[in-house]
Amino acid sequence: MARAKVSIIGAGRVGSTTAQILAYKELCDIVLWNRTAGTAEGVALDLNESAPIFGFDVDIEGTDDFSRIKGSAIVAVTAGAQRKEGMSREDLLATNSAIVISACEQVKRYAPKSKLVVITNPLDSMVLLAKSVTGFPRQRVMGMAGILDSSRFRDFIAKELGESVSDISALVLGGHGDFMVPLPRYTTVSGTPVEDLLSKEKLAKIVDRTRNAGAEIIRLEKESSAFYAPAASLALMIEAMLKDKKMTLPCAAYLDGEYGISGIFMGVPVVLGAKGIEKVVELKLNSEEKALVKLSAEKIKGSVKGLRLN
Ligand code: 2OP
Repeated sequence: MARAKVSIIGAGRVGSTTAQILAYKELCDIVLWNRTAGTAEGVALDLNESAPIFGFDVDIEGTDDFSRIKGSAIVAVTAGAQRKEGMSREDLLATNSAIVISACEQVKRYAPKSKLVVITNPLDSMVLLAKSVTGFPRQRVMGMAGILDSSRFRDFIAKELGESVSDISALVLGGHGDFMVPLPRYTTVSGTPVEDLLSKEKLAKIVDRTRNAGAEIIRLEKESSAFYAPAASLALMIEAMLKDKKMTLPCAAYLDGEYGISGIFMGVPVVLGAKGIEKVVELKLNSEEKALVKLSAEKIKGSVKGLRLN
């Protein structure tokens, strides 16, 4: 059977690192699109030249020609400006809207049956824009954020406890911003609730660090925002769909009444399989958690007001 094709729009650090992970795992052929052909071709060439060492046999093509994404099973939009120190994700809205609109018009044209994953910031707004431009059903449009936020939460808990990261299961819901909702009540360490292992104060500090983890990296790196963990998160979503794994993962999904919210994308647990978002999982939240999710949804509703939707 021929390998599936995955196209990545944007050959910056997130796009190229995602391509590298997909290639190492020999998951699919890859088209890496960038508005400057040289950048995409150079990254593709460099990755191809590592293939004999790692032993992967996949085709990686770099291009500035959108028609090359034809036949993609999945398209990931990573293109866009990144935050600099002192900026919020919302500050990118105008610049990145134009980039996401033009990319999604081409996705609609050349890969109308693909599943579309958006990671450009401000995430919750950009993925709504992608749905509006493509008109794809909600099963086939999603945003990457919750896996990244949950991974950061898991890492901080693991370091605090001196445990393996693999022992920590955790969930972060809500928007990809200051109002994201880490859920300590749904967080366990080899099955033990984390609330039995860490004091309220320690957990509150970790929750706060998780909410600001993207900005922490920009503060340290100055000119760049995170890309290793975002790329790993995106690659996991792609793998879950390519392999029809039916994994439950937190992703930005279009809500149609779930959690009492409609008309926006927000981070919730979903089942990811070959069809895309095969189910939105509704967790039983307590009143405090419900209030935090509602507040996060209100913030997203405020941000998307600035978008011109079809
Ligand atoms: C982050 O949280 C870039 O939004 C991304 O690091």
